[in-house]
Amino acid sequence: MKTAITEMFGIEHPIIQGGMHYVGFAELAAAVSNAGGLGIITGLTQRTPELLAKEIARCHDLTDKPFGVNLTFLPAFSAPPYPEYIAAIREGGIKIVETAGRSPEQYMPALKAAGIKVIHKCTSVRHSLKAEQIGCDAVSVDGFECGGHPGEDDMPNMILLPRAAEELKIPFVASGGMADARSLVAALSMGAAGMNMGTRFIATREAPVHDNVKKAIVAASELDTRLVMRAIRNTERVLKNAGVHRLLQIEREKGAKLKIEDIHDEVAGVYPKVMIDGDMDAGAWSCGMVVGLIHDIPTVKELIDRIMADAEHLIRSRLMGLLGAENKASLEVA
Ligand SMILES: Cc1cc2nc3c(=O)[nH]c(=O)nc-3n(C[C@H](O)[C@H](O)[C@H](O)COP(=O)(O)O)c2cc1C
Repeated sequence: MKTAITEMFGIEHPIIQGGMHYVGFAELAAAVSNAGGLGIITGLTQRTPELLAKEIARCHDLTDKPFGVNLTFLPAFSAPPYPEYIAAIREGGIKIVETAGRSPEQYMPALKAAGIKVIHKCTSVRHSLKAEQIGCDAVSVDGFECGGHPGEDDMPNMILLPRAAEELKIPFVASGGMADARSLVAALSMGAAGMNMGTRFIATREAPVHDNVKKAIVAASELDTRLVMRAIRNTERVLKNAGVHRLLQIEREKGAKLKIEDIHDEVAGVYPKVMIDGDMDAGAWSCGMVVGLIHDIPTVKELIDRIMADAEHLIRSRLMGLLGAENKASLEVA
């Protein structure tokens, strides 16, 4: 399948693996790229720019296909040295960067000077237009369903994607709630040039996380995510667990007076405990409503091959089949 996104990034299938804290290591990024998608290493999971440089080198050893690096600009307890991270990306020969969180505007000159294509993750049409205006090459339009930070507009993809298609000139992929061929075909119909998946890729054999995480994703239903940190306008969609229960209790008690310090124990330092140790009650970790659609733990290649084969079948049989024989024939002639 050829779309503006496969052409822009030099990939076979229009499927991107979004940056994920403590999940987006070289093993997963390389597996996705080797399967014909675009794998992405999560920059800030590497505690220093030197460690990111090593992770990029490790990924180059695992694949000769294009892969990218995610740079997230979120409110953090202490700001990371972004220019040094960008230097590691540039020196590592990376040509695709996924930015997320705050606007990447201040870093665009450095990224563009290095010949890097930038895909910015946005949760609204206005932020997508801003990304287009500051020179981003593409956007990843992240609906309210998504795992991670859905923003504060609560706009689901059924509305957000066609709205993005109405306004944007640069290509975009659909992100949030994407799991299978149905997601891909629906996203393409709404104007997207591909899809970005987070949660779905965690439940794969190659995802370098504890088995408990994969099992929890398969066991969960679409009703099992919660939104946290709404009061401080840093909303995050997470999988419910004992730590999240405590966090929500504190949020209810503090109300509008909630400060990030109040929930430090439930949100800081949680990822290694969950992803490496498999402690599923440690606190808040991002997870999308799409868990309701995840029922197995395939290899990345099995997953991507299945999505592409099913998408072709969906388009050729189901969608074409819905057209009357007469219309179908005239389409084939055209
Ligand atoms: C465990 C986890 C960690 C994530 N960490 C990041 C991150 O560090 N930076 C980022 O830009 N997005 C992050 N995301 C968001 C994903 O890149 C992607 O946009 C999102 O998962 C899409 O929604 P989905 O989970 O419904 O597929 C994370 C998502 C998950 C599930």
